[in-house]
Amino acid sequence: MIEKNDSILITGGSSGIGLATAKTFIDAGADVFITGRNAERLDTAKKELGDALTTIQADVSDTKDNEKVYEIIKDKKGYLTTIFANAGVAEGNIMGKTSIESFDKTFDINVKGMFFTVQSMLPLLKNGSSIVLNASIVANKGMANLSLYNASKAAVRSFSRSWANDLKSRHIRVNTISPGVTETPIFTHGLDMSKEDIENLKASLAQTSPIGRMGTPQEIADTVFFLASKKASYINGIELAVDGGFAQI
Ligand SMILES: NC(=O)c1ccc[n+]([C@@H]2O[C@H](COP(=O)([O-])OP(=O)(O)OC[C@H]3O[C@@H](n4cnc5c(N)ncnc54)[C@H](OP(=O)(O)O)[C@@H]3O)[C@@H](O)[C@H]2O)c1
Repeated sequence: MIEKNDSILITGGSSGIGLATAKTFIDAGADVFITGRNAERLDTAKKELGDALTTIQADVSDTKDNEKVYEIIKDKKGYLTTIFANAGVAEGNIMGKTSIESFDKTFDINVKGMFFTVQSMLPLLKNGSSIVLNASIVANKGMANLSLYNASKAAVRSFSRSWANDLKSRHIRVNTISPGVTETPIFTHGLDMSKEDIENLKASLAQTSPIGRMGTPQEIADTVFFLASKKASYINGIELAVDGGFAQI
């Protein structure tokens, strides 16, 4: 299982799924480092989770920030046993009217940011560690007006196949989770959905998803915890859907 001296980096750990995951690992006795761009959200997380949490203001798409994250973890703990590469944005785009800026933003954060964050942390990762990447069920779907987000998540899923192979000599397992619709601030942050839109989405899921509801951040966090733990020691390179069956039927 997760052990007392374990050390976890969670990118985008100040909200939603990342924050629930930070709490889950801290409850198990680990030291947790989280990143995010917004200082206020990081401070709120620190107040909630206490001494076992270190917050680092950093943008995954900025390689200089990755160097800062590396140095802070090296000085404070010296090593990592898990990376949960979670930071991501979801923004709609209309095919035919999409700007290069939108393309770059989604791919810089969701794809380039994930690649270079994980790459720059490799010297800190102990052999036998675990990496969990956060994709989405959209990695295998063509959801309308979301082609950039869909494609960025397909790239994330692909990374876990390649890295499981690339890191095999260090016995580092790399897996992807693909959450379904999960109740977090992402719907208002990036997708600009109103309260009413979210209520409509819930009503629609009641009809179309076998489980009939949105997921909770805790349900996703528990899955990350399992994949990172020794209970998942023979699981490598997979994509695990955590979606109540929504994308499975
Ligand atoms: N909620 C869902 O339905 C759902 C479904 C499938 C997959 N996911 C994936 O789950 C992940 C977490 O999303 P969430 O739903 O928990 O959303 P959220 O509550 O909006 O959290 C996103 C987190 O990522 C951070 N972040 C965003 N851009 C960043 C950047 N450039 N550098 C560092 N941190 C950054 C945010 O902090 P700052 O804004 O302060 O930087 C925040 O901590 C995302 O990758 C998302 O695509 C979500």
